[in-house]
Amino acid sequence: MDLKQMVGEKAAEFVKDGMVVGLGTGSTAYYMVEAIGKRVKEGLNIIGVTTSNRTQEQAEALGIPLKSVDEIDRIDITIDGADEISQAYQGIKGGGAAHLFEKIVADNSDKVIWIVDDSKMVEELGAFPLPVEVIPYGSQQLYRLFEDKGYKPTFRQDTNEELLMTDAGHYIIDLHMERIERPHELAEWLDGLTGVVEHGLFLDRVNTIIVGSESGVEIIEAR
Ligand code: 5RP
Repeated sequence: MDLKQMVGEKAAEFVKDGMVVGLGTGSTAYYMVEAIGKRVKEGLNIIGVTTSNRTQEQAEALGIPLKSVDEIDRIDITIDGADEISQAYQGIKGGGAAHLFEKIVADNSDKVIWIVDDSKMVEELGAFPLPVEVIPYGSQQLYRLFEDKGYKPTFRQDTNEELLMTDAGHYIIDLHMERIERPHELAEWLDGLTGVVEHGLFLDRVNTIIVGSESGVEIIEAR
């Protein structure tokens, strides 16, 4: 079985009757949403909170009852993919351009589970380009700032080679840093930049990581 499918289906087992469930975005989260949709058809009673238009369309098609993040008090559990997870269990997300909504949903969740195949487990972050979501106004100035810092920025493009527009109407600048030695310092700096809406560093946020490899599924309790 595909490793993404394996961890997606495993994660769906963490969902219990009556829960409010954050539904992540990406090719791994896709399988988790499919598995939850199957359980809903069999009688599971949950409310889903989606993290992108893509996941919303998938969940609606599966008949998963949905509410927006603003309509619920608290999310019991959020299951999402990740692009890189370091040995300290810090993460980069946003390869699917959904990290703004994903971070909002994660920050309102009692428990966060990441589902990945073992290729995503790394020693330290940075080989995967770090996504920074910015408002269009002034984005060239931010681009120049990142360039001056040596962060090798690129604007994310869509399949038509136009500037990619996120679900919230922003651009993404990817930083090709190769190594992020001090992720907390970088996150703090990015948080303080005017025009930056959100970055893909997800620090001290994950509780449980489900890793799929050829030898099976490993469940890591991160915090
Ligand atoms: C979307 C994300 C995804 O969770 C991340 O990119 C992993 O995606 P995939 O499971 O397709 O590798 O952060 O913004």
